[in-house]
Amino acid sequence: MENNDRGKFGSKLGAILAAAGSAVGLGNVWRFPYETGNNGGAAFILIYLGCVLALGLPIMIAEFVIGRRTHTNIVGAFEKLAPGTQWKWVGRIGVISAFFILSFYSVIAGWTLEYMFEAISNGFSGKTPGEFDAAFTAFSTSPWRPLIWLILFLVATHVIIARGVEKGIESFSKLMMPMLFILITVLAVCSVTLPGAGAGVEFLLKPDFSKVNSQVFLAALGQAFFSLSLGMGTLCTYASYFKKDTNLIRSAVSVGLIDTFVAILAGFIIFPAAFSVGIEPDAGPSLIFITLPNVFQQAFDGLPWLAYIFSVLFYLLLAVAALTSTISLHEVATAYIYEEFKISRKRAALYVTASCCVLGILASLSLGVGRDILIFGMSFFDLLDFVTAKLFLPLGGALIAIFVGWYLNKRITRNELTNEGTLKVNSYKAIIFILRYVAPTAIMVIFINELLIA
Ligand code: TRP
Repeated sequence: MENNDRGKFGSKLGAILAAAGSAVGLGNVWRFPYETGNNGGAAFILIYLGCVLALGLPIMIAEFVIGRRTHTNIVGAFEKLAPGTQWKWVGRIGVISAFFILSFYSVIAGWTLEYMFEAISNGFSGKTPGEFDAAFTAFSTSPWRPLIWLILFLVATHVIIARGVEKGIESFSKLMMPMLFILITVLAVCSVTLPGAGAGVEFLLKPDFSKVNSQVFLAALGQAFFSLSLGMGTLCTYASYFKKDTNLIRSAVSVGLIDTFVAILAGFIIFPAAFSVGIEPDAGPSLIFITLPNVFQQAFDGLPWLAYIFSVLFYLLLAVAALTSTISLHEVATAYIYEEFKISRKRAALYVTASCCVLGILASLSLGVGRDILIFGMSFFDLLDFVTAKLFLPLGGALIAIFVGWYLNKRITRNELTNEGTLKVNSYKAIIFILRYVAPTAIMVIFINELLIA
């Protein structure tokens, strides 16, 4: 079924910025810094770069091939390329993952709004470290406040998705991504010029390999997948809106570069500021909600207006980055529903938003009033995170690599990568080799290891 009114990205730059918008998100500014902090700094970053280059990019290219070849949603894509087989389950698991990730991701995205408004109303000034801690716990476990932000965030996502691919996703990404680059650069420059920031810069640049063990490799690969939005068809779906003359390999390299650049700059915001006030960087997931507001206050001690601006801009940055990612998750599910069940885009989007509100509310409550209700020993929030990040994404990534590496006709892959023979591609053999052997093996080793440790 060729569907001509399903939309396309209007320009190559727009397509790249949309895909980069999906990749750049809480994964870069929230998750990457705490993973770096917990795994020893520069050595972790080097291994992470290796994972992006050697595994992330080839799998991203495989997703682009599937999406651009079929011009349809992730389930329809597998049905088209492998009719009558069970491969469509890779697509179905992708759609389920989209619902799950969107639900718990929006909870944290909602927190960034609370912190942005707290920063705007000058609520950080004069608080002690203990008060930041207590304030975060009180907020994140309170029964209704986080729910309002969560719903607001999902509604914002919905409005952009309902406007369509070019007018919604593309124009929003084109507006927001440059703003995000400016914000993040300004904040990083501010942070590295603080007195005593040098120790933080050193932490990011001077690798200490004595701390590297297999856990560090696992963390780096997991982070690479999450940050590049791989393993569940997000980038397949976006590539289904690419034009015929989009250079897939070059686009993947651009997205990978932008994503990595933003993650490292986020490190340059957080660690120099933290070290300059003598705070250790290994606080874990609460790093940006408890440690950072405190860091901002102390770092700009005596310059309260700078602390104010810095905090407001930082949480604004987080919210924007999260929003360009939630729209990409939403689109996976919306495209599937409206194409496969032949209903309007707006109605499909409404179903997705409504179900994610319900799942998200349950996830949010499971951190507070419902914290005693455990499923397999986990809160509902942690369950959604675990099932997607630790099970579905690695499995999906490996299956996508196997699909393009082994199952898909090589002529199709070559035609897509060379745009029907009009581009010269030197890396074709290397990409296929990685998709066939390296990626499935590496992912399976990590997958099994994680399950045994978890
Ligand atoms: N990559 C985004 C981030 O870094 C999150 C995200 C969007 C994602 N789509 C995804 C993660 C698909 C995994 C799979 O925040």
